Amino acid sequence: MEEILEFMNVNAGYGRVQILDDLSFSVEKGQVYGVIGPNGSGKTTMFNALLGLIKPSAGKIIFDGVDITRMSSNVRCKMGLGRTFQIPRPFENMSLYENVLVAAVHGGSHSERFAKDVALSSLKQTGLYDKREIRAGELTLLDRKRLEIARALGTEPKLLLLDEVAAGLTEAEVKEIMELVANLKAAGYSIIWIEHIIETMVGSTDYLMCMAQGKSVAQGEPREVIGSAEVQRLYLGVDDDE
Ligand SMILES: Nc1ncnc2c1ncn2[C@@H]1O[C@H](COP(=O)(O)OP(=O)(O)O)[C@@H](O)[C@H]1O
Ligand SMILES: [Mg+2]
Repeated sequence: MEEILEFMNVNAGYGRVQILDDLSFSVEKGQVYGVIGPNGSGKTTMFNALLGLIKPSAGKIIFDGVDITRMSSNVRCKMGLGRTFQIPRPFENMSLYENVLVAAVHGGSHSERFAKDVALSSLKQTGLYDKREIRAGELTLLDRKRLEIARALGTEPKLLLLDEVAAGLTEAEVKEIMELVANLKAAGYSIIWIEHIIETMVGSTDYLMCMAQGKSVAQGEPREVIGSAEVQRLYLGVDDDE
């Protein structure tokens, strides 16, 4: 399989505080790659490094065969990296269509006419097409999560980065997000999905990495990773009495 992304021994952080510590992993094209790990383990920071919002002090990031380690976040977005935010940040007073159109105009590299088509198809893919004229501020949490994904799709990503899109949702709503992610995978997107919910990750990902303290502590087939002693101890807090 061909790789869409390779992190090679990346160190990165904020100012002088190093968070990512010799982080290496790779994602194959068409995969849903899950990332779990305790709060503060550096998952969002990994996205920030991938997107060029922070610069690595060591290591390399290869995206779709190109070394992007020194490229600007704007160039990376146009090359096909699209993200959701852990806290949804839509323009509350704009319609869903306008919200996604802004993403399509800024993130894509095409004409306005084309951006409109991309925005509409992103709304269709996320099940929001019929609500496209509603103001973002009026949405339920589940639809806000869908809108976050639609805005990321508006930038026409090859690799879609989902940061805790299922957090705060009910079990039934989480299932809807899982279905949406499965549909996006079927449509050909490569996806990295950060989430806390173990069952969701086991049910939805092809490969799983667990992070702790800026490092990868386990990588592999999701069930094996969850079952590993390292992850049980570090992440789940399971002890022998249970
Ligand atoms: N903008 C920032 N400036 C300084 N430190 C930060 C910043 N964002 C996150 N951190 C720190 O980096 C560490 C990893 O955070 P983060 O990547 O958000 O973890 P996760 O997403 O796994 O919960 C935490 O210790 C956090 O306090
Ligand atoms: Mg985070």
